[in-house]
Amino acid sequence: MSVLVLGGAGYIGSHAVYQLIDQGEHVVVVDNLETGHREAIHHEATFYEGDIRNVDFLRSVFKKEAIESVIHFAANSLVAESMENPLKYFDNNVYGTQVLLKAMVEHDVKKIVFSSTAATFGEPESVPITELQQTNPTNPYGESKLMMEKLMKWTEKAYGIKYVALRYFNVAGARETAEIGEDHFPETHLIPIILQTALKKRAHVTIFGVDYDTDDGTCIRDYIHVEDLIQAHLLALDYLREGNPSNVFNLGSSQGFSVKQMIETAKEVTGRDIPVKMGPRRSGDPSILIASSEKAKKVLGWTPKRTSVSKIMLDAWKWHSSHQDGYKKEVKK
Ligand code: UFG
Repeated sequence: MSVLVLGGAGYIGSHAVYQLIDQGEHVVVVDNLETGHREAIHHEATFYEGDIRNVDFLRSVFKKEAIESVIHFAANSLVAESMENPLKYFDNNVYGTQVLLKAMVEHDVKKIVFSSTAATFGEPESVPITELQQTNPTNPYGESKLMMEKLMKWTEKAYGIKYVALRYFNVAGARETAEIGEDHFPETHLIPIILQTALKKRAHVTIFGVDYDTDDGTCIRDYIHVEDLIQAHLLALDYLREGNPSNVFNLGSSQGFSVKQMIETAKEVTGRDIPVKMGPRRSGDPSILIASSEKAKKVLGWTPKRTSVSKIMLDAWKWHSSHQDGYKKEVKK
């Protein structure tokens, strides 16, 4: 039997595939390669190129492969893009999940672990954010992920598909060996932008807002190492295999770092100069996001091992400095 990983060529999905294979699982990857990279797919995984919104394509994968469970990463995930083009997000993220669930029902696959996000909460009532806080997304990306959670909830009631929704905070870092890592185009995330500046691929980092109500005036985020994050997915899969009920977990390191602190950490880790410019706030950015991950620790037995931001930065640096143009960009042009 195989684990089907949707979006297994993306940043987070590719790390999941590597860890699943490390654990001796047989893995089937589906990815449309819109934002994913063929080079990121583990050579031992069986790969099908295609779009999850294409029900005939998905049906053919479920027919050919003996799928035991699904881990679903295939989604668009840029907040700003979602504000400009919300329908893209409802189409790919929500409709794509609807088609997937239909195929799962037809083929009697009853377990799914999937990526949700801290963006389902919107502006938090308080920090650290527990799973019990109100969800009130402030952008279509967060709304689409919340809708995905709701699709799961109602399909469980009707068809018995058990799910675990994992609400990620700021995922960063890379596999320790630097075989795979983060490569988005355009890049919008803070750590890759800082490290591309250290590599002189960018002239400077613009800090989006220095007038927040925080100690140094810049936004505070909870950075979680991608390898720790994936460990929680494997535990969530075991949790479902043991017959436990559907559930939702926040995944973060439970510690906050400001944009300025992240830039200082990067200077220490890389030993490079990182020029900075102060800019206005980016619309839609909450000032502080910090997860409470107590529930994941208690219920899943999750023990994140790479919680120091220096370690997260170091692993990201190993990847970026050894893949300065990401995955073979020249092939894509
Ligand atoms: N930032 C800068 N300059 C940059 C890029 C980012 O100052 O060039 C700041 C942002 O304003 C923010 C922090 O760095 O305060 C982190 O920004 P990222 O874009 O790296 O991450 P976000 O916190 O915006 O987004 C993350 C996930 C999203 C998710 C969101 C939930 O990447 O998928 O958290 O709020 F939706």
